[in-house]
Amino acid sequence: MKTQHSVLLALVLLAPAAVFVLAPSATANDPAAWGGGKIGQAMQTLQGGQQKIGKALEKKDMATVLAQTLEMQKAVQEAKLETPVTAGQVKEADKKKEFVVGYRLEMIELQKALLDLEAACVQDKADEAKKVFDERLKSIKKEGHGKYKGD
Ligand code: HEM
Repeated sequence: MKTQHSVLLALVLLAPAAVFVLAPSATANDPAAWGGGKIGQAMQTLQGGQQKIGKALEKKDMATVLAQTLEMQKAVQEAKLETPVTAGQVKEADKKKEFVVGYRLEMIELQKALLDLEAACVQDKADEAKKVFDERLKSIKKEGHGKYKGD
């Protein structure tokens, strides 16, 4: 009986600690932890695609470059139609509109670059694909994040 009580007591005392142990794994799978929403999810797909394409280009594995390019195109299409959270910081109506249109145009630039990447892939032009990847994708990402991502 005494042991049962101590086990029970231990459980009661340890329960709050379990929250801290379980919390990190819960947040790792929670979209809200990395920005949340559709844009955040699409960005994770873009990130994965970019990494896989980088490696595939080194091996001139154009089938993988093409498959990942198509995945990225779908993700950009999703993200393009959303409004970034940072738009909420722009109070004046005109400026807010300008900001949201700017976001949309940057996404369209990314779509154009991904279409050019697709065109290079289907023609098996590995050098051209590498050029689009190195010279356009990376700079569009940098510019998009500089203006619209926030901290
Ligand atoms: C190849 C291109 C891109 C890649 C690989 C990429 C990747 C990412 C990643 C990994 C995040 C999450 C970062 C974090 O956890 O803090 C993110 C967030 C974000 N990115 Fe991109 N990005 C790309 C292009 C762009 C472009 C062009 C724009 C804007 C036009 C943009 C706007 C944003 C925004 C607004 C967020 C915050 C999302 C949120 O609030 O949930 N990204 N991006």
